[in-house]
Amino acid sequence: MEIAVIGSSMVDLIAYTDEVPKAGETLEAKEFQMGCGGKGANQAVAAALLGSEVMMMARVGDDAFADNTIANFQSFGVNTDHVEKVSGVSSGVAPIWVDKDSQNRILIIPGANKHLLPADIDAAADRLGKASMIILQLEIPLETVYHAIDFGNTNGIPVILNPAPATTALDLDYACKCDFFVPNETELEILTGMPVETEEQIHAAADILLNKGLKNLVVTMGEKGALWMHGEETGHFSAPSVDAVDTTGAGDAFIGCFAHSLSQDGDIQRAIEQAIRYASHSVTGKGTQTSYASAEAFAAL
Ligand code: RIB
Repeated sequence: MEIAVIGSSMVDLIAYTDEVPKAGETLEAKEFQMGCGGKGANQAVAAALLGSEVMMMARVGDDAFADNTIANFQSFGVNTDHVEKVSGVSSGVAPIWVDKDSQNRILIIPGANKHLLPADIDAAADRLGKASMIILQLEIPLETVYHAIDFGNTNGIPVILNPAPATTALDLDYACKCDFFVPNETELEILTGMPVETEEQIHAAADILLNKGLKNLVVTMGEKGALWMHGEETGHFSAPSVDAVDTTGAGDAFIGCFAHSLSQDGDIQRAIEQAIRYASHSVTGKGTQTSYASAEAFAAL
């Protein structure tokens, strides 16, 4: 059975720069890399690289980027029957700055991603209804995300929601309808309005969501690993120490690997451990999808 990723696709325009320019300032950056990205696309590619059957549901523009984006999915074995071009709009584009501390700043111009609509879920119902799992993020319209969650619930398909980029417009009742809700610390802070500097603060913020009825909450914390909370159960999973060069797309690597591992044997804790290792490895390479390990390379780590 295949994992269905319903989400975004972007063209990443990455500048590697020691300093980010101030208003009115022009600076020279060290390096540029263009690649296929978008949180949904990255998650689909990570799961496919690890060996899962994956279908992508996305919208691209009618511009020069579209065919390359579709070909890129196909090169990883991701099914593109439901990746469609929208005429008169641009593909999603993401200018990204990666600084000397390997931290990123990302702007997204959603373009065609805004055109993935609830009716498109219904139109693909035959295919989606056979999925083993649905993965969602927030770079497509919220109504589409909500409709996909309802579709998953109606059809008994587990749903993973990665609330990225976070928005306070997200209806947390829908988060509670998902089997797994996976924010990073910053997203947790935005969604709850609570500080997340310490692990105690993260637990306090997480409790706000868990008290609303969230089933499984996984908070990713970069080099500090991840927290898992489910009812009375909690677990802290640490991350291996690595030399980071670019953290862009690490969260997506986590989601793709988590979904792949979970769909193999249903073991949540093992899936989190694997996802941390996979995401940690991704920060040692530049770019988003270009930094993801194949199943063979990951097994050899
Ligand atoms: O999570 C990283 C991704 O965020 C990038 O690929 C960029 O396209 C944005 O969607």
